[in-house]
Amino acid sequence: MKEEFDVLNPNKAVSAAVFKYCRDRSVPLPDHISRHAAITERELGEDSEMMVSRLQAQYLLWTVRSLKAKKILEIGCFTGFSALAFAESLKDVEGAKIITLDINPETAKIARKAFKDAGVDHIVSLIVGPAKETLAGLVDEGPFDLVFLDADKEGYVGYYGIIMELGLLRKDGILIADNVLKRSLVVDASEANPHSSDKNACSRVPHLQEFNDLMATDKRVETFLLPVFDGLSLVRVL
Ligand SMILES: C[S@@+](CC[C@H](N)C(=O)[O-])C[C@H]1O[C@@H](n2cnc3c(N)ncnc32)[C@H](O)[C@@H]1O
Repeated sequence: MKEEFDVLNPNKAVSAAVFKYCRDRSVPLPDHISRHAAITERELGEDSEMMVSRLQAQYLLWTVRSLKAKKILEIGCFTGFSALAFAESLKDVEGAKIITLDINPETAKIARKAFKDAGVDHIVSLIVGPAKETLAGLVDEGPFDLVFLDADKEGYVGYYGIIMELGLLRKDGILIADNVLKRSLVVDASEANPHSSDKNACSRVPHLQEFNDLMATDKRVETFLLPVFDGLSLVRVL
């Protein structure tokens, strides 16, 4: 059997070309969303790396339409890039609703303006505060069809626990958890991994390992862990 890792990505140059090829042949991101990513990159510099990639935003947009999801909960809004992709899928859908959470009031201000400028502020609600506390008050808003988990990695296990305990995700609803491989450090944090010198990323590893092990063993869900982007878990409620 072939090794899957070097079939598509034999080296960095080919890999970059592959990603561009995929972007150009996937459902496009509307210009205003790409522009918002560029503004975030320009204004927030290195912090803008917190956004999902453009290809991942295309994937999220496509997924929402394919699942026919109407109610989405996002944990980790930042400047609203991924939420804009969700909103693009849902802007003409009756009864659509996106609730997105973040602890940072500064980036929330940028996100709110982006939602207003895009004309989607009627379907997107941004709640500022620690997600753990906010989640506890969302029972009446649920259950959601899709949850996108993209906030502090230390919190993933706790957020998952609250979501399941409060029934915030419906049966057959999907939780998409981002960065679950964290630069592959979750699997290999030895010197063989060039990211092993990133102490910040390494500190997240035990929390993500606990989350991934829980997703693999919790009988209430079925999980598919994709080695794409920074590691993406697709978790379906049984
Ligand atoms: C990776 S970014 C989200 C990126 C966003 N999904 C996108 O693609 O544009 C993670 C966000 O989680 C937020 N965050 C961190 N800890 C949090 C907490 N305890 N409660 C809520 N949000 C939190 C951060 O402020 C940050 O904006």
